[in-house]
Amino acid sequence: MGSVVLGTGSCLPRRVVTNADMESIVATSDEWIRTRTGIETRRHGGSGELTYQLSSKAAEQALEAAGVDAAELGLIVVGTISPHMIMPSTACFVQAEIGAKNAFAYDINAACSGFLYGFDLADKYIRSNPAMKVLVIGAETLSSRVDYSDRNTCILFGDGAGAAVLGAAEGVRGVLATDMQADGRFWELLHMHGPESSNPDLRVEPSSGPFIRMQGKEVFKYAVKSMAGSINAVLSDQQLTIADVDLLVPHQANIRILNNLQKRLGIAEEKVFINLPKYGNTSAASVPIALDEANRAGKIEKGDIVLLCSFGGGFTWGAVLLIW
Ligand code: ACO
Repeated sequence: MGSVVLGTGSCLPRRVVTNADMESIVATSDEWIRTRTGIETRRHGGSGELTYQLSSKAAEQALEAAGVDAAELGLIVVGTISPHMIMPSTACFVQAEIGAKNAFAYDINAACSGFLYGFDLADKYIRSNPAMKVLVIGAETLSSRVDYSDRNTCILFGDGAGAAVLGAAEGVRGVLATDMQADGRFWELLHMHGPESSNPDLRVEPSSGPFIRMQGKEVFKYAVKSMAGSINAVLSDQQLTIADVDLLVPHQANIRILNNLQKRLGIAEEKVFINLPKYGNTSAASVPIALDEANRAGKIEKGDIVLLCSFGGGFTWGAVLLIW
C-alpha cells in the first residue's frame, strides 16, 4: 500500500517584486523578462518570513486541510537550498514551531527537486509503516542567495513555501510510481558555494561568492529532456500514456521550458498547471506551491491522475505519478 496526499498548504511572503522593480536593480527590462522567462512578479521575504517561518505556516495549512494534528506526524522532511542556518536543519525549526513532538526531522538538498525527493522518501517510509504520517515541505528564500549584480539569475528566483501531509492510501488512490534521478557531472552548470572555509587549505578557488550561478542555456536543454524522460518512465511503469493524465504540476522555472515540455509530451495545454508568472522560480517550493494552488482552485478531483515533475541543480530531477 502506497501513500496519498491528505492535505496541502502554502505560504508566500508579503512583498511583491515586479519586473519594473528589477529594472531599478540590474540592466534588464520588463519586456526581456516576460518574453524570455514568462515571469511578471516574484516574492521577496521580509521580517518574520525566514525559510522555516514560511515553512511552518504552509505546514499548519496542510495539517488543517488533512485533519491531522502536528503530534501525529512521524517525520518532517524539508527540501531547501536556502535554510537560514546550516545547522540545525529547517525541518527541526519547523518541528519546534508547529509542536510536532513525535516527529524526527531533516532537510534534503536536491535544489528544485527537493520536494519531489522528499515526497518519494515519504512514500517509502509509509509503505514500510502505514501508520506513519509524513509532512513534506519545499521552501526557499532565494532572494538572499542571488547576486543582484548578475542579471542572468537575480530576476528568476523568488521566495515561498509549500507543504503536503502524506499518509497511507486506502483503496486505489495514492502514489503509483516515482522516478528519481541525479547526474553530478553537471554540477558546474548550476551551483551555489557555501560560506568561505576558515581553513585556508580547504578554500575552493575561485569562489564566486555564496550565490546561485547558472549557465541558463545548457540547463534549459537538460531540463526539458530530463523531465520528459522521468515522466515517460513513470507512465510506462504503469502502462499509462500522457492522455491518461488529468493534471501535470511541473517545476516552474521558465515558461519556455514548460511550453517545450508540454509539446514534447503531447499533453493538452489546459492540463499543465502554471503559476510561474506570479512567483518566478521558487526552486524546491515551486511544485508544492503549485500543487496547493491547483488543489485549492478545485483543479484536482478525487480519483484524478496527477503527475509531478522537477529539475534542478545537481543535476537532480524526477517525476511522481499518483491517483488523487
Ligand atoms: N535582462 C536583459 N538581458 C539579459 C538578462 C536580463 N535579465 N539576462 C541575460 N540577458 C542577456 C544576456 O546577457 C545575453 O546577451 P548577449 O547576447 O548580448 O550576450 C542575452 O540576454 C541572451 O542571454 P541567454 O542566456 O542566451 O538567454 P536565454 O534565452 O537562454 O534565457 C534563461 C536565459 C532565462 C536563464 C534561460 O536560459 C533559462 O530559463 N534557463 C533554465 C533555467 C532553469 O531551468 N533552471 C532550473 C532550475 S533552477 C535550480 O535548480 C535552483
